[in-house]
Amino acid sequence: MSTLVVLGTQWGDEGKGKVVHYLAADSDYIVRYQGGNNAGHTLIYQDKPFVLHLIPSGILFPKKICMITNGVVVDPKALKEEIDVLKKKKIPVDGRFFVSERAHVILPYHKLIDGMLESDTTKTKIGTTKKGIGPCYTDKVRRVGIRVIDYIDKEVFVELLDQNLKEKEDMLKKVCDIKKLRKEILKDHEVLSKFLKKYAADTSLMLAEAIKKKKKILFESAQGTMLDLDYGTYPFVTSSNPTSGGASTGTGMGPACVDDVLGVVKAYTTRVGEGPFPTELFDKTGEFLRDKGQEYGATTGRPRRCGWFDAVVLRHSVRVNGIKRLILTKLDCLEGLDKIKVCVAYKYKGKILKEFPASRIVQRDCKPVYEELPGLDGKVAGVKSYDKLPKNAKKYIKRLEELVGAKIDLVSLGRKREETIKTGKNVKWF
Ligand code: IMO
Ligand code: MG
Repeated sequence: MSTLVVLGTQWGDEGKGKVVHYLAADSDYIVRYQGGNNAGHTLIYQDKPFVLHLIPSGILFPKKICMITNGVVVDPKALKEEIDVLKKKKIPVDGRFFVSERAHVILPYHKLIDGMLESDTTKTKIGTTKKGIGPCYTDKVRRVGIRVIDYIDKEVFVELLDQNLKEKEDMLKKVCDIKKLRKEILKDHEVLSKFLKKYAADTSLMLAEAIKKKKKILFESAQGTMLDLDYGTYPFVTSSNPTSGGASTGTGMGPACVDDVLGVVKAYTTRVGEGPFPTELFDKTGEFLRDKGQEYGATTGRPRRCGWFDAVVLRHSVRVNGIKRLILTKLDCLEGLDKIKVCVAYKYKGKILKEFPASRIVQRDCKPVYEELPGLDGKVAGVKSYDKLPKNAKKYIKRLEELVGAKIDLVSLGRKREETIKTGKNVKWF
């Protein structure tokens, strides 16, 4: 086995950053295949929290190759800022970090449009990160987008920029002086195009060669399955496919090249932004989880909505991604609760639903059906092996496996890489 997709199974913020940081040690290539700097992956580096938005956390290992492929939308300014921080920390980047020539570029007008759409009271508010993600993907689909390869060619770029400013004129003139905006974009372009050119590459070709050489490749998603454009809680989703299929279209690698799919799942549920969340808690337990899990957005700082584990969501996620193995995170954050609830089905108009519904009305109005389990019964944080976990913690893990139909191979008990335990002796990634 040499290629592995690691993805979020809930509404994002499952702890993918830490998990990728853990698995990256065994990988040769770490590849981000969708989303943009709407993601916020927090990990612990040199004992301090460190947030990455675009670059895979594999970059923290000096010899690994890291890529941002065609399915990602890249804000050149945000990328430069991230790389500047890495360089300041003396982490080598050049020569081992690449951006697909085919990735689309986020420009300042995408961010302006994102903000305008979010404050337009006649439209459904999604609660986006306002990073311009949706408007950039919209341009890609409308075939007016600007790719990295277009951006680094000044002549092509200026022509496409003017076309875009012209067609968006009616909208943009309400919030800015378009001439001034154009001037600023061109000024930034002088620096950013040279910067981006250094990293631009045909990443699909590079990956094909790596696969031929049986290199170990980890494909990393941002966001989560319930934010997927097709299988999430539409329209309260992001504008890309964080699901496993996205790893194929988002990298230029045939689906048969994916050997395994690992789902990252948090021991409870969180969501940022608007949209349905059947197991959301509005009481003290919700506050307890937010506090204990430090559930505040790494990108926007917004407090995350918190709730119980939802096995209906997980079954949906296991199915649409073809997940066989799971990594359970933040189990330590349930420490201190007397009872733990798990949602096993939904109830809507007197009917029991076992599968996640497509209807936005049913998603909004259904009520969770809970099963109650005892609290974890003792200390979980700091435990070094699966055998040493308290009995009830193991019981919780086993019950989740039964309910969702996938094996939990790894359990994360803290934010550091080392605070991770395998549930069996034969757990291997590649
Ligand atoms: P990571 O990778 C959690 C949410 C936003 C909003 C919706 C659409 O850290 O798990 P967008 O800006 O993408 O158009 O916003 O998606 N969202 C996330 N929520 N974690 C993320 O990423 C997210 N990226 C986007 O809050 O509801
Ligand atoms: Mg996040």
